[in-house]
Amino acid sequence: MNVAIIGARGIGKHHAKWFHLEGCHVAAFAGTSPETCQQAEAALRGLFDFQGRSYTDYRRMLDAETLDIVSICSPPDCHHAQAVAALQAGAHVYCEKPFIWPSFDALSYPLPSLSVADRASATVHHPMLRRTVDEAREVVSLAERRQRVFGLNAQYVAAHASYQAMYEAARGPLRDIDTVYFLLESKGISGRMSSYEGIFIDMASHALSQVIAWLPDGTLDPESVECRITQNETVARFRYGTATVETVLRKNPAAQRPRRQFGTNQFIVEYEARADEQGVFRAVLRHGDQTVTSEDLVQLSVRRFLDVIRRGEGRPFVDGRDAVTNIELEALIVERGRREG
Ligand SMILES: NC(=O)c1ccc[n+]([C@@H]2O[C@H](COP(=O)([O-])OP(=O)(O)OC[C@H]3O[C@@H](n4cnc5c(N)ncnc54)[C@H](OP(=O)(O)O)[C@@H]3O)[C@@H](O)[C@H]2O)c1
Repeated sequence: MNVAIIGARGIGKHHAKWFHLEGCHVAAFAGTSPETCQQAEAALRGLFDFQGRSYTDYRRMLDAETLDIVSICSPPDCHHAQAVAALQAGAHVYCEKPFIWPSFDALSYPLPSLSVADRASATVHHPMLRRTVDEAREVVSLAERRQRVFGLNAQYVAAHASYQAMYEAARGPLRDIDTVYFLLESKGISGRMSSYEGIFIDMASHALSQVIAWLPDGTLDPESVECRITQNETVARFRYGTATVETVLRKNPAAQRPRRQFGTNQFIVEYEARADEQGVFRAVLRHGDQTVTSEDLVQLSVRRFLDVIRRGEGRPFVDGRDAVTNIELEALIVERGRREG
Protein backbone atom coordinates (compact mmCIF):
# COMPACT_ATOMS: atom_id res chain seq x y z
CA MET A 1 0.00 0.00 0.00
CA ASN A 2 1.23 3.47 -0.90
CA VAL A 3 1.32 5.91 2.01
CA ALA A 4 1.98 9.65 2.15
CA ILE A 5 2.60 11.75 5.22
CA ILE A 6 1.47 15.36 5.56
CA GLY A 7 3.94 16.96 7.97
CA ALA A 8 6.92 14.64 8.40
CA ARG A 9 9.26 16.65 10.60
CA GLY A 10 7.68 15.96 14.01
CA ILE A 11 5.60 12.89 14.95
CA GLY A 12 5.04 12.36 11.20
CA LYS A 13 8.49 10.81 10.71
CA HIS A 14 7.52 8.12 13.23
CA HIS A 15 4.25 7.48 11.38
CA ALA A 16 6.33 7.01 8.24
CA LYS A 17 8.62 4.57 10.07
CA TRP A 18 5.74 2.50 11.48
CA PHE A 19 3.90 2.36 8.13
CA HIS A 20 7.18 1.27 6.50
CA LEU A 21 7.80 -1.40 9.16
CA GLU A 22 4.23 -2.67 8.73
CA GLY A 23 4.93 -3.39 5.05
CA CYS A 24 3.72 -0.19 3.34
CA HIS A 25 5.59 1.87 0.77
CA VAL A 26 6.09 5.45 1.99
CA ALA A 27 5.80 7.09 -1.40
CA ALA A 28 5.83 10.78 -0.48
CA PHE A 29 5.45 13.46 2.14
CA ALA A 30 4.37 17.08 2.13
CA GLY A 31 5.82 19.98 4.09
CA THR A 32 5.75 23.74 3.83
CA SER A 33 9.07 24.82 2.28
CA PRO A 34 12.05 23.35 0.39
CA GLU A 35 14.27 23.84 3.47
CA THR A 36 11.94 22.08 5.91
CA CYS A 37 11.28 19.32 3.37
CA GLN A 38 15.02 18.73 3.15
CA GLN A 39 15.19 18.47 6.93
CA ALA A 40 12.25 16.06 6.98
CA GLU A 41 13.82 13.95 4.25
CA ALA A 42 17.08 13.67 6.23
CA ALA A 43 15.10 12.70 9.34
CA LEU A 44 13.22 10.01 7.39
CA ARG A 45 16.46 8.63 5.91
CA GLY A 46 17.81 8.40 9.48
CA LEU A 47 14.92 6.08 10.37
CA PHE A 48 14.64 3.83 7.28
CA ASP A 49 15.59 3.65 3.63
CA PHE A 50 13.18 6.38 2.51
CA GLN A 51 13.11 6.67 -1.30
CA GLY A 52 9.94 8.73 -1.77
CA ARG A 53 9.26 12.22 -3.11
CA SER A 54 8.64 15.46 -1.23
CA TYR A 55 6.19 18.27 -1.99
CA THR A 56 5.80 21.75 -0.57
CA ASP A 57 2.05 21.67 -1.32
CA TYR A 58 -0.01 18.72 -0.14
CA ARG A 59 -2.63 19.30 -2.87
CA ARG A 60 0.02 18.85 -5.56
CA MET A 61 1.11 15.67 -3.83
CA LEU A 62 -2.47 14.33 -3.80
CA ASP A 63 -2.79 15.13 -7.52
CA ALA A 64 0.55 13.62 -8.51
CA GLU A 65 0.67 10.43 -6.39
CA THR A 66 -1.48 7.31 -6.38
CA LEU A 67 -2.08 6.85 -2.68
CA ASP A 68 -3.90 4.29 -0.58
CA ILE A 69 -3.35 6.07 2.73
CA VAL A 70 -2.65 9.63 3.84
CA SER A 71 -1.36 10.12 7.36
CA ILE A 72 -2.02 13.66 8.62
CA CYS A 73 0.62 14.89 11.07
CA SER A 74 0.36 18.66 10.63
CA PRO A 75 -0.96 21.12 13.26
CA PRO A 76 -4.63 20.54 14.16
CA ASP A 77 -5.96 23.64 12.36
CA CYS A 78 -4.79 22.04 9.07
CA HIS A 79 -6.44 18.66 9.65
CA HIS A 80 -9.94 19.42 8.32
CA ALA A 81 -8.93 20.70 4.86
CA GLN A 82 -6.24 18.04 4.49
CA ALA A 83 -8.49 15.15 5.54
CA VAL A 84 -11.25 16.28 3.15
CA ALA A 85 -8.75 16.61 0.29
CA ALA A 86 -7.18 13.19 1.02
CA LEU A 87 -10.58 11.47 1.15
CA GLN A 88 -11.64 13.21 -2.06
CA ALA A 89 -8.45 11.86 -3.64
CA GLY A 90 -9.65 8.37 -2.67
CA ALA A 91 -7.25 7.66 0.22
CA HIS A 92 -7.92 6.17 3.65
CA VAL A 93 -7.00 8.72 6.34
CA TYR A 94 -5.04 8.30 9.54
CA CYS A 95 -5.06 11.57 11.48
CA GLU A 96 -3.12 12.77 14.48
CA LYS A 97 -4.94 13.95 17.58
CA PRO A 98 -6.53 16.38 18.29
CA PHE A 99 -8.78 15.50 15.34
CA ILE A 100 -9.39 19.17 14.46
CA TRP A 101 -8.89 22.35 16.48
CA PRO A 102 -9.20 25.93 15.27
CA SER A 103 -6.16 28.10 14.92
CA PHE A 104 -5.17 29.34 18.37
CA ASP A 105 -4.75 32.82 16.93
CA ALA A 106 -8.36 32.86 15.79
CA LEU A 107 -9.94 31.44 18.94
CA SER A 108 -10.48 34.11 21.57
CA TYR A 109 -9.70 33.21 25.16
CA PRO A 110 -10.87 33.27 27.84
CA LEU A 111 -13.91 31.48 26.54
CA PRO A 112 -17.22 33.25 27.04
CA SER A 113 -18.77 32.55 30.43
CA LEU A 114 -21.83 30.36 30.17
CA SER A 115 -25.14 30.81 31.95
CA VAL A 116 -26.38 28.04 34.25
CA ALA A 117 -28.84 26.93 31.55
CA ASP A 118 -26.09 26.90 28.91
CA ARG A 119 -23.86 24.80 31.15
CA ALA A 120 -26.63 22.26 31.66
CA SER A 121 -27.15 21.64 27.95
CA ALA A 122 -24.89 19.23 26.08
CA THR A 123 -24.29 21.88 23.43
CA VAL A 124 -21.03 23.37 22.30
CA HIS A 125 -21.60 27.13 22.54
CA HIS A 126 -18.42 28.77 21.27
CA PRO A 127 -19.05 29.35 17.52
CA MET A 128 -15.54 28.30 16.47
CA LEU A 129 -15.66 25.15 18.56
CA ARG A 130 -19.12 24.35 17.22
CA ARG A 131 -17.75 24.70 13.70
CA THR A 132 -14.85 22.43 14.65
CA VAL A 133 -17.23 19.67 15.73
CA ASP A 134 -19.23 20.15 12.50
CA GLU A 135 -16.01 19.88 10.48
CA ALA A 136 -15.11 16.65 12.30
CA ARG A 137 -18.55 15.21 11.47
CA GLU A 138 -18.13 16.30 7.84
CA VAL A 139 -14.80 14.40 7.55
CA VAL A 140 -16.25 11.24 9.09
CA SER A 141 -19.39 11.25 6.97
CA LEU A 142 -17.28 11.84 3.83
CA ALA A 143 -15.14 8.81 4.79
CA GLU A 144 -18.29 6.73 5.29
CA ARG A 145 -19.79 7.83 1.97
CA ARG A 146 -16.56 7.05 0.14
CA GLN A 147 -16.11 3.78 2.09
CA ARG A 148 -12.69 4.84 3.26
CA VAL A 149 -11.29 4.00 6.70
CA PHE A 150 -10.71 6.92 9.07
CA GLY A 151 -8.55 6.40 12.16
CA LEU A 152 -7.44 8.88 14.82
CA ASN A 153 -4.02 8.45 16.37
CA ALA A 154 -4.91 8.72 20.06
CA GLN A 155 -2.76 5.72 20.81
CA TYR A 156 -3.36 5.07 24.52
CA VAL A 157 -6.36 2.88 23.63
CA ALA A 158 -3.80 0.44 22.20
CA ALA A 159 -2.66 -0.19 25.80
CA HIS A 160 -6.09 -1.43 26.91
CA ALA A 161 -5.41 -5.13 26.28
CA SER A 162 -2.25 -5.05 28.45
CA TYR A 163 -4.02 -2.93 31.06
CA GLN A 164 -7.00 -5.28 31.23
CA ALA A 165 -4.71 -8.32 31.65
CA MET A 166 -2.98 -6.61 34.61
CA TYR A 167 -6.27 -5.48 36.11
CA GLU A 168 -7.88 -8.91 35.83
CA ALA A 169 -4.81 -10.71 37.24
CA ALA A 170 -5.07 -8.51 40.33
CA ARG A 171 -8.80 -7.90 40.65
CA GLY A 172 -10.78 -10.36 38.53
CA PRO A 173 -13.00 -9.45 35.55
CA LEU A 174 -13.19 -5.76 34.61
CA ARG A 175 -16.94 -5.18 34.38
CA ASP A 176 -18.41 -2.07 35.95
CA ILE A 177 -16.40 1.08 35.56
CA ASP A 178 -16.93 3.53 38.40
CA THR A 179 -13.94 5.81 38.01
CA VAL A 180 -11.43 6.71 35.32
CA TYR A 181 -8.21 8.55 36.13
CA PHE A 182 -5.60 9.96 33.82
CA LEU A 183 -2.42 11.92 34.65
CA LEU A 184 -0.35 13.07 31.73
CA GLU A 185 2.71 15.25 32.11
CA SER A 186 4.48 16.75 29.16
CA LYS A 187 7.71 18.72 28.91
CA GLY A 188 6.12 21.06 26.36
CA ILE A 189 2.93 21.67 24.43
CA SER A 190 2.55 21.00 20.68
CA GLY A 191 1.17 23.99 18.86
CA ARG A 192 1.21 27.68 19.45
CA MET A 193 -0.56 27.91 22.79
CA SER A 194 2.14 27.22 25.35
CA SER A 195 0.16 27.72 28.56
CA TYR A 196 -3.34 27.66 30.10
CA GLU A 197 -5.78 25.71 27.89
CA GLY A 198 -2.93 24.66 25.58
CA ILE A 199 -2.08 21.54 27.58
CA PHE A 200 -5.72 20.42 27.55
CA ILE A 201 -6.16 21.05 23.83
CA ASP A 202 -2.93 19.21 23.08
CA MET A 203 -3.32 16.23 25.40
CA ALA A 204 -6.99 15.72 26.30
CA SER A 205 -7.63 13.49 23.27
CA HIS A 206 -5.48 10.78 24.89
CA ALA A 207 -7.48 10.75 28.11
CA LEU A 208 -10.84 11.13 26.37
CA SER A 209 -10.11 8.28 23.97
CA GLN A 210 -9.63 6.01 27.00
CA VAL A 211 -12.87 7.21 28.58
CA ILE A 212 -14.80 6.59 25.34
CA ALA A 213 -13.23 3.14 24.83
CA TRP A 214 -14.01 2.03 28.39
CA LEU A 215 -17.54 3.45 28.34
CA PRO A 216 -18.76 3.02 24.76
CA ASP A 217 -22.39 3.75 25.69
CA GLY A 218 -21.54 6.70 27.92
CA THR A 219 -22.56 10.30 27.51
CA LEU A 220 -21.32 13.41 29.28
CA ASP A 221 -23.33 14.97 32.08
CA PRO A 222 -22.56 18.59 31.16
CA GLU A 223 -23.63 19.94 34.54
CA SER A 224 -21.03 17.78 36.26
CA VAL A 225 -18.07 19.38 34.47
CA GLU A 226 -15.54 21.11 36.69
CA CYS A 227 -12.50 22.22 34.75
CA ARG A 228 -9.82 24.23 36.50
CA ILE A 229 -7.28 25.81 34.17
CA THR A 230 -4.05 27.19 35.57
CA GLN A 231 -0.97 28.29 33.69
CA ASN A 232 0.65 24.84 33.51
CA GLU A 233 -2.13 22.45 34.44
CA THR A 234 -5.72 21.66 33.55
CA VAL A 235 -7.68 19.43 35.91
CA ALA A 236 -11.08 18.29 34.64
CA ARG A 237 -13.65 16.25 36.58
CA PHE A 238 -16.91 15.08 35.09
CA ARG A 239 -19.47 12.28 34.96
CA TYR A 240 -19.42 10.16 31.82
CA GLY A 241 -21.81 7.21 31.67
CA THR A 242 -21.40 5.22 34.88
CA ALA A 243 -18.06 6.77 35.78
CA THR A 244 -16.61 9.74 37.57
CA VAL A 245 -13.65 10.84 35.48
CA GLU A 246 -10.64 12.89 36.52
CA THR A 247 -7.98 14.01 34.05
CA VAL A 248 -4.87 15.88 35.16
CA LEU A 249 -2.87 17.29 32.27
CA ARG A 250 0.29 19.10 33.23
CA LYS A 251 3.12 20.93 31.52
CA ASN A 252 6.28 20.07 33.44
CA PRO A 253 9.40 21.21 31.54
CA ALA A 254 11.64 20.26 34.51
CA ALA A 255 10.52 16.63 34.65
CA GLN A 256 13.33 14.21 33.78
CA ARG A 257 10.73 11.63 32.92
CA PRO A 258 7.21 13.10 32.61
CA ARG A 259 4.74 11.01 34.64
CA ARG A 260 1.99 9.19 32.80
CA GLN A 261 -0.62 7.20 34.69
CA PHE A 262 -4.05 5.90 33.92
CA GLY A 263 -6.59 3.43 35.15
CA THR A 264 -10.07 2.66 36.23
CA ASN A 265 -11.67 1.73 39.57
CA GLN A 266 -8.54 3.04 41.38
CA PHE A 267 -6.31 0.46 39.64
CA ILE A 268 -3.76 2.93 38.32
CA VAL A 269 -0.78 1.91 36.19
CA GLU A 270 2.34 3.89 35.30
CA TYR A 271 2.98 4.11 31.57
CA GLU A 272 6.33 4.70 29.96
CA ALA A 273 7.56 4.55 26.35
CA ARG A 274 11.20 3.49 26.27
CA ALA A 275 13.75 2.00 23.92
CA ASP A 276 14.81 -1.61 24.54
CA GLU A 277 18.40 -2.94 24.16
CA GLN A 278 18.02 -2.96 20.36
CA GLY A 279 16.84 0.68 20.42
CA VAL A 280 13.25 -0.28 19.53
CA PHE A 281 10.56 1.72 21.32
CA ARG A 282 8.28 -0.27 23.63
CA ALA A 283 5.33 0.54 25.84
CA VAL A 284 5.79 -0.41 29.48
CA LEU A 285 2.91 -0.60 32.00
CA ARG A 286 3.76 -0.97 35.67
CA HIS A 287 1.64 -1.66 38.74
CA GLY A 288 3.55 -2.36 41.95
CA ASP A 289 6.09 -5.02 41.00
CA GLN A 290 4.07 -6.21 37.99
CA THR A 291 5.33 -5.01 34.57
CA VAL A 292 3.89 -5.66 31.12
CA THR A 293 5.88 -4.65 28.02
CA SER A 294 4.26 -4.40 24.61
CA GLU A 295 5.07 -2.94 21.24
CA ASP A 296 4.98 0.84 20.85
CA LEU A 297 1.42 2.16 21.10
CA VAL A 298 1.59 4.13 17.84
CA GLN A 299 2.93 1.01 16.10
CA LEU A 300 0.00 -1.03 17.45
CA SER A 301 -2.45 1.68 16.38
CA VAL A 302 -1.02 1.87 12.85
CA ARG A 303 -1.10 -1.93 12.63
CA ARG A 304 -4.77 -2.03 13.68
CA PHE A 305 -5.64 0.70 11.11
CA LEU A 306 -3.89 -1.32 8.37
CA ASP A 307 -5.62 -4.55 9.46
CA VAL A 308 -9.02 -2.89 9.04
CA ILE A 309 -8.11 -1.79 5.50
CA ARG A 310 -6.51 -5.11 4.53
CA ARG A 311 -9.29 -7.31 5.89
CA GLY A 312 -12.19 -4.99 5.12
CA GLU A 313 -13.59 -5.49 8.63
CA GLY A 314 -13.11 -4.39 12.23
CA ARG A 315 -12.42 -0.86 13.42
CA PRO A 316 -9.38 1.24 14.26
CA PHE A 317 -8.69 1.78 17.98
CA VAL A 318 -10.25 5.24 17.57
CA ASP A 319 -12.61 5.24 14.60
CA GLY A 320 -14.39 8.20 13.05
CA ARG A 321 -17.39 8.17 15.37
CA ASP A 322 -15.23 7.99 18.50
CA ALA A 323 -13.01 10.72 17.05
CA VAL A 324 -16.05 13.03 16.72
CA THR A 325 -17.13 12.22 20.28
CA ASN A 326 -13.58 12.90 21.40
CA ILE A 327 -13.42 16.39 19.94
CA GLU A 328 -16.96 17.23 21.03
CA LEU A 329 -16.10 16.26 24.62
CA GLU A 330 -12.91 18.30 24.43
CA ALA A 331 -14.90 21.35 23.31
CA LEU A 332 -17.69 20.85 25.88
CA ILE A 333 -15.21 20.51 28.75
CA VAL A 334 -12.82 23.33 27.85
CA GLU A 335 -15.60 25.86 27.29
CA ARG A 336 -16.90 25.04 30.78
CA GLY A 337 -13.38 25.63 32.14
CA ARG A 338 -12.39 28.38 34.55
CA ARG A 339 -9.01 30.03 34.38
CA GLU A 340 -7.26 30.66 37.68
CA GLY A 341 -3.95 32.37 38.41
N1 LIG B 1 -0.01 11.07 19.33
C1 LIG B 1 1.03 11.65 19.92
O1 LIG B 1 1.59 11.16 20.89
C2 LIG B 1 1.53 12.96 19.36
C3 LIG B 1 2.81 13.43 19.68
C4 LIG B 1 3.23 14.63 19.11
C5 LIG B 1 2.39 15.35 18.27
N2 LIG B 1 1.15 14.87 18.00
C6 LIG B 1 0.23 15.61 17.11
O2 LIG B 1 0.77 15.59 15.79
C7 LIG B 1 0.46 16.80 15.10
C8 LIG B 1 1.77 17.47 14.66
O3 LIG B 1 2.50 17.77 15.81
P1 LIG B 1 4.11 17.82 15.80
O4 LIG B 1 4.53 18.07 17.20
O5 LIG B 1 4.67 16.68 15.08
O6 LIG B 1 4.27 19.20 15.01
P2 LIG B 1 5.50 19.86 14.37
O7 LIG B 1 6.76 19.27 14.89
O8 LIG B 1 5.25 21.29 14.56
O9 LIG B 1 5.33 19.43 12.84
C9 LIG B 1 4.28 19.87 12.11
C10 LIG B 1 4.49 19.33 10.70
O10 LIG B 1 3.39 19.75 9.94
C11 LIG B 1 3.85 20.33 8.74
N3 LIG B 1 2.92 21.36 8.32
C12 LIG B 1 2.55 22.47 8.97
N4 LIG B 1 1.65 23.15 8.23
C13 LIG B 1 1.44 22.43 7.10
C14 LIG B 1 0.67 22.61 5.96
N5 LIG B 1 -0.14 23.65 5.81
N6 LIG B 1 0.74 21.65 4.98
C15 LIG B 1 1.54 20.59 5.11
N7 LIG B 1 2.32 20.37 6.19
C16 LIG B 1 2.26 21.28 7.17
C17 LIG B 1 5.21 20.87 9.04
O11 LIG B 1 5.91 20.90 7.83
P3 LIG B 1 7.31 21.68 7.68
O12 LIG B 1 8.23 20.99 8.59
O13 LIG B 1 7.67 21.51 6.26
O14 LIG B 1 7.02 23.10 8.05
C18 LIG B 1 5.76 19.85 10.04
O15 LIG B 1 6.42 18.79 9.37
C19 LIG B 1 -0.36 17.64 16.09
O16 LIG B 1 -1.73 17.43 15.86
C20 LIG B 1 0.06 17.08 17.45
O17 LIG B 1 -0.92 17.24 18.45
C21 LIG B 1 0.71 13.69 18.51
